[in-house]
Amino acid sequence: MSRFIGKKVLVTGGNSGMGLETAKEFVREGAEVFITGRNKETLEAAVKELGPRAKMAVSDSGSLKDIAILADQIKKEWGHLDAAFINAGIAHFVPLEELTEKHFDDTFNTNVKGPLFLVQKIAPLFKNGGSIVLNGSVVADKGFAAASVYSATKAAVVNLAKTLSTDLMSKNIRVNTLSPGPIETPIFSRMGGTPEQTKEMQAGMAQMVPLKRLGTTLEIARTVLFLASSDSSFIVGSNIAVDGGVAQL
Ligand SMILES: NC(=O)c1ccc[n+]([C@@H]2O[C@H](COP(=O)([O-])OP(=O)(O)OC[C@H]3O[C@@H](n4cnc5c(N)ncnc54)[C@H](OP(=O)(O)O)[C@@H]3O)[C@@H](O)[C@H]2O)c1
Repeated sequence: MSRFIGKKVLVTGGNSGMGLETAKEFVREGAEVFITGRNKETLEAAVKELGPRAKMAVSDSGSLKDIAILADQIKKEWGHLDAAFINAGIAHFVPLEELTEKHFDDTFNTNVKGPLFLVQKIAPLFKNGGSIVLNGSVVADKGFAAASVYSATKAAVVNLAKTLSTDLMSKNIRVNTLSPGPIETPIFSRMGGTPEQTKEMQAGMAQMVPLKRLGTTLEIARTVLFLASSDSSFIVGSNIAVDGGVAQL
């Protein structure tokens, strides 16, 4: 399929995991992509892999200053946007008694404050309507141990898709959330455990999934492209679970 020929698409957190896979799928279907992240080296490697239709910016999702610079850069280089996958996020599981203000602020800044103000800044760039997909999580519907802060950020994201859809209705921009279950990405190795602990945690999560496996980044990417394309033209403010049944069965 080539649903995105000539389309301009922003993918935050496009240098790893679901973001990188989704950027690849957008490029494969003809889009130009603008990817962001904090790590310059992995961004450069991703752009090399994505080819000449990819651009990058080092941009911290939780920094309003970086968000303003990013929106200006996209405006200067492209003039407009057709779609965005707002995906950059962090997940750390912390028991209630060990919670700190820093953990709360870092997680909310990256996962909620950043996405909200990014939508505010990029909305004027959607000249012909378009689609914004927020990356949520199945944790928004669950009560997993040690997941209070992370889960609250993703519950906020689910609601943002609804309120922002209403706010952006007159500009013909649809906003939806995609809520992944456990997906095999580097996010687990960023949680601070040893490689063995990471493997064990992933195996435990796979057992919790009714389909008895982790999801793949391609299963996420294909859903993002569906939500970003006119194939989903009557879907607005929805929360689409791609979770192997974790929060459904
Ligand atoms: N994997 C799962 O099981 C799962 C399940 C449900 C939801 N999710 C959500 O899926 C999204 C993507 O995660 P992933 O699993 O693909 O993990 P990942 O491979 O660790 O990717 C996370 C991405 O977010 C970027 N990022 C993190 N903090 C950032 C910040 N402050 N500013 C800019 N970029 C930042 C990272 O870039 P840098 O490394 O350059 O900072 C990276 O590109 C997250 O929102 C996560 O909450 C994941």
